[in-house]
Formats: sequence, structure tokens, C-alpha cells
Amino acid sequence: MSTATASADDTRILERLQATDCKPLIGSRVGLSKAALLSGDYAADLRELLELRGVLVFPQIDFSDEEQVAFTQTIGEFLPEMKGQTVYNISLDKEKNPNRDYLKGSLFWHIDGTMNKVPIGAAILSSKVLPTWGGNTEFCNTYAAYSALSDERKAEIDELRVIHSMWNTQLYHTPEPTTEQLEQWMSMGEVELPLVWKHKSGRKSLVLGNTAQEVVGMSRMDSARLLHGLRDWATQEQFVYSHEWNVGDAVMWDNTGTMHRARPYDPDCGRLLHRTKTAGVEPIQ
Ligand SMILES: [Fe+2]
Repeated sequence: MSTATASADDTRILERLQATDCKPLIGSRVGLSKAALLSGDYAADLRELLELRGVLVFPQIDFSDEEQVAFTQTIGEFLPEMKGQTVYNISLDKEKNPNRDYLKGSLFWHIDGTMNKVPIGAAILSSKVLPTWGGNTEFCNTYAAYSALSDERKAEIDELRVIHSMWNTQLYHTPEPTTEQLEQWMSMGEVELPLVWKHKSGRKSLVLGNTAQEVVGMSRMDSARLLHGLRDWATQEQFVYSHEWNVGDAVMWDNTGTMHRARPYDPDCGRLLHRTKTAGVEPIQ
């Protein structure tokens, strides 16, 4: 929904949420107060705008962890982290995140949870410590990218299936793993997913990213051409919103209709984001 194509209903939602477009094809800045967000009164509108725009930005809203959890609970079914934690530290600092190696894969375009039966629905990041350089978080709209393909291209790819794996993501940053490392990554197995997600809403989005390994039934070269070609297509400037953080910013994304990545930053600078998330409501199908 760009301003140019917004329907009357869309315009009313934008007004209710005091929202403006970040880019024509992705992202809205929401101007509501923290109290209004926490009230839950706007949750249905926020969910609708999120699905249409892919990313919602709440500039310097300054959520505490408790407030971020409470807000996330208004958006959907709250999904705790492993070991029951409510908030996940996104940081390459070993003190703040003992699993920092796993995060290195997030520097490349991906969808969260493609290895799970139902990927997460929405996720929210709050900025706590800024990087000294770099460290923007970028999002691309995979609905808009699919929609902009020609009808011929859509017909060619609509029924293709793709093998996804976690071990593929790790090879991006550790191309020469030890046997033990490789076995550990591979213990998560592989899944086969459609290349085009046909959502229950009737909309379609592309399922790509660093877990996407090879197209079923295609030669390795043709498969690489297709997966890298579509990722290159979907991450063109017009489909991408790049968020430069201020402390206190919160950004929510629709994990079912976007890919995201972090831009490189000094791993020792202490950059810290707190993430919460909601359960997804449908498998990729
Ligand atoms: Fe991620």
C-alpha cells in the first residue's frame, strides 16, 4: 500500500495509527504514543498495516523489556525464547550472547524459522546500544517482489520447491568447518518448501534467503541462478527499507512477507538489540 495506491480503508488505518510511509513499497512509521500501543486498542489495525507494509517503525518509543513483552502480546501469541526467556539479546558480544557465532548468519538475507513447521509471525527489535559503525537492519518486501515479477516468470516459478537447511547458512561465514561443526549443523536436517508461499489470505510471497539451498529437480547451476537471481531481484532498492537505529527505536516486521539482514558492524562495539516474537499462524505452503 503506497500512498499513491492506498484505498479509503488503508487511509483510515494510516490516520488512526498516525502512520506515514517509509518507502512506497515497504515500511510505515507509526506515531502512536507508548500508552496507546500498550492499550491493545490498536492491535488489529497494527496487524493489518504490518501485513500490508512488511515493517512498522516506532521511533524512540523506549520500551522496557516488560513493555516490549506486553506490546508483543497484543500483536499475537507470545513465543518465548529457549529456556523460557522472554527477550533475546541480539549481539555479537560474547558476554551478551553466548551463541554469537549462530548470529553471523543473520548478516545475510533470511527469513526466521524456515526450518520450523510454522515460522514465527511477527518479531520486534528494540535498540539498547548503538554500533560504532554500520549495523543497520534491512528488510525487503517479498510480497511486493513477487507481485512485480512478469506473469511469465510467476508461471515458471509458482510450483517450484526448494531444499532449505541451517547448515547452508553457516557456510556463508564459515566455509571450511571442522567435521564436528558440519555434523552439528546438519543435525538440524533439511526441509523442502515451496518457492512461492500461497498464503491463506490469497497473497503470494517469495521464500528465499540463506537457508535456501537448491531447487528440487534442477541442475546445480540452474538452481543457483534461480535462487541468487530471485534474491537479487527481491532485494532491489525499491523493495528494501534500511533502518538506522537510534536508542529506544522499536521495529516490528512481518516475518511471513519479508526477508531481513543486519549490515556489518564492529563485533566488539557492544551493539545490542532486544528481540521478542509471536508464533506464526500458518505453515509455508
Ligand atoms: Fe533473523
